[in-house]
Amino acid sequence: MDSPFPALCYARAMPKVIAVTSEKGGVGKSTLAVHLTGALSARGLLAALIDEDGRVGSSLRWSRRQEGGLGFEVLEPDDVKPKRVAGHDALILDTEGRPRRKELRQLAERADLLLLPSGVSALELEATRELLEFLDEAGAARHTRVVLTRVPPTGLAGEHAREDLREGGWTVCNTLVRHYAAYQKAAEAGVLCRDVRDPRAENAWHDILQLSREVL
Ligand SMILES: Nc1ncnc2c1ncn2[C@@H]1O[C@H](COP(=O)(O)OP(=O)(O)O)[C@@H](O)[C@H]1O
Ligand SMILES: [Mg+2]
Repeated sequence: MDSPFPALCYARAMPKVIAVTSEKGGVGKSTLAVHLTGALSARGLLAALIDEDGRVGSSLRWSRRQEGGLGFEVLEPDDVKPKRVAGHDALILDTEGRPRRKELRQLAERADLLLLPSGVSALELEATRELLEFLDEAGAARHTRVVLTRVPPTGLAGEHAREDLREGGWTVCNTLVRHYAAYQKAAEAGVLCRDVRDPRAENAWHDILQLSREVL
């Protein structure tokens, strides 16, 4: 932040706003937003998830599936008052399924970081490149990063997609979030992937923790 009083800016300690968005539905936004908030919280940071997908409200429903909740706050946009989020390290926004471009532009202005989850199939990568180009024209490329997700755990599809995007000049998180059934089970049970009974749950949680260290 440019300020003649950097110490004052630091003292104000505004939470870092991280928006998870995409133009398509079903790419893994809610899964990523829920788990990223969980991983930041597990690391001792104060993080809250804001469910901005009013139509589906999947993060909210996820958190209400079991009584104890997810171990962090899940808020609706109307709950987000400066007093309530003061002192938080991060606010993670789970955004709506098919945003209009105008909404994407506004989101880019509100967020410190835009995370774009993308699968590694040719079609998904094409859609992701289109969105990156739009965000670039909107002046938001600097704080936009692709997160490759639902990456096949075997083979090199994730590595190749990461390399191709980087060669195109885009910023891609190092962590490849691999495809594991533990995420689906976690959504069904209203918990995080580390808490489901699944032989790969630990691998899934490892990916998320690693990703969380790249963003905060
Ligand atoms: N890394 C992953 N591995 C396996 N399944 C995943 C992964 N990420 C998301 N999914 C599954 O993909 C589907 C869509 O994910 P979701 O997070 O609801 O997407 P969106 O919020 O973008 O619509 C869900 O069934 C979810 O469990
Ligand atoms: Mg969703």
